[in-house]
Amino acid sequence: MDRTSRVVSAEELERQRAFAARVRDHYALRGRMPLAWTQTFGCQQNEADTELIRGMLAEMGFGFCEDVDEADIVLINTCAIREHAEDRVYGNVGELSHAKKKNPALITVLCGCMAQQKHVAERIRSSYPYVDIVFGTHALPRFPQLLFECISRKKRVFDLEGDERGYILEGVEPVRQKGRRAWLSIMYGCNNFCSYCVVPYVRGRERSRTPEAILAEFKSLVAQGYKDITLLGQNVNSYGSDLGGACDFPTLLEMIDEVPGEFWVRFMTSHPKDASTRLFDVMARSERICSSIHLPVQAGSDRVLHEMNRRYTAEKHLSLVDYARSVMPDITMTSDIIVGFPGETDEDFQKTIDLLERVRFDSLFTFIFSPRRGTKAWDMPDPMSRENKQRNFDRLLAVQNRISREKNDEYVGRRVRVLVGEEENEKSYNNEYTKQSRTEGFKLVYLRGAEGLEGRFVDAIIERSSTWALFGAVADGESR
Ligand code: 5AD
Ligand code: SF4
Repeated sequence: MDRTSRVVSAEELERQRAFAARVRDHYALRGRMPLAWTQTFGCQQNEADTELIRGMLAEMGFGFCEDVDEADIVLINTCAIREHAEDRVYGNVGELSHAKKKNPALITVLCGCMAQQKHVAERIRSSYPYVDIVFGTHALPRFPQLLFECISRKKRVFDLEGDERGYILEGVEPVRQKGRRAWLSIMYGCNNFCSYCVVPYVRGRERSRTPEAILAEFKSLVAQGYKDITLLGQNVNSYGSDLGGACDFPTLLEMIDEVPGEFWVRFMTSHPKDASTRLFDVMARSERICSSIHLPVQAGSDRVLHEMNRRYTAEKHLSLVDYARSVMPDITMTSDIIVGFPGETDEDFQKTIDLLERVRFDSLFTFIFSPRRGTKAWDMPDPMSRENKQRNFDRLLAVQNRISREKNDEYVGRRVRVLVGEEENEKSYNNEYTKQSRTEGFKLVYLRGAEGLEGRFVDAIIERSSTWALFGAVADGESR
């Protein structure tokens, strides 16, 4: 390990490559390409991690399959953010027992945020004997070694080890999803310890990739034809705070905006306590940074925000929103809201509704509080009944759905730039608006007249709207 940065050392990379070669040899003896099946739960960061793991699997000689029954290795990358996410993982892991019965040589792997927690690993060890490999987020760079140990010694392997400062893995080429959209991790981990959140415990401390590494990967994505690239980090606005002043997030955006090519760049997630007016100024000035931001506010009551350890007030959030709109009047904004944080009263909740009415986000990700073991909120008194929380949650959805609908209605008749995707929509109006596309603000637009324009930026005239999507026609003069 390099002392000044958290980047996995060249020696360690070599060591893992040697294990990768031995895994490749092991499967090569069988005379056909081994296949891997992967499944990802949770956030985009997890998607990006799975793409890295798929990169390692490709290096080990694996191809990929869509059908579990064809797989030689099954890997589930897990999420720990809410109980519901964990329950779904346990359900899917349970089903692996059937796959294993059908094919006893199958290697089953559980990794990621859930697997980083000791109590989860213990439960897997005792109750799910058909899971062969369990490794946490910190052990990700050691995956080739873990796989080799499992297949050569024919025994279960558990690896939850690792410094909680975490690591950065460079030099592995991710195997990305097909299409025009790509994730690019610019940093890992989180230092914020919001009192409800398990992320800092399972992903370790904040560490930033160097601007050089990010730019090199970005350019390669553009060269490969990716056109909608999302920069990822748990809190992108503190990017670079561990790089000794070499670069901060707005500066990174400026550098990326100078890369030649036709693309859009977006980023997530922004913490309101660290988002600066300079960030919005750079976004407003830039050519290819989308006027779009995900700015999780979580709650509208200052008392609840304080208990959540968010370190901003509703007023500070509103002033950011106002500033962003003053320099980018068309900016789209989305947010996360937690309903029913311990001790939140109906009066507190009303402040969340008031904030939503004031800000008018384009859309929201809404969650009912889920206690996470090891976090501060786990032990907080939580007197509000589940029914009361559900009632508030339903009310929140109704308010937001109305706002989303009203905001989408404003688009009807407008000309907007969209990136045409590959996917078709089966439930379009009269089968007319079939092609899926996205605006700069990441609004979903179903298009008519877009055949043959996949992967292109075109202008569209919006003709209809709904709560969830816009419907439009490719504008005259857009050539095939
Ligand atoms: N319960 C409910 N929602 C949570 N989130 C994070 N932790 C919890 C939890 N324990 C939500 C927050 C965060 C989003 C990714 O998930 O809103 O912004
Ligand atoms: Fe969790 Fe807060 Fe970090 Fe986001 S900023 S990952 S909510 S601790």
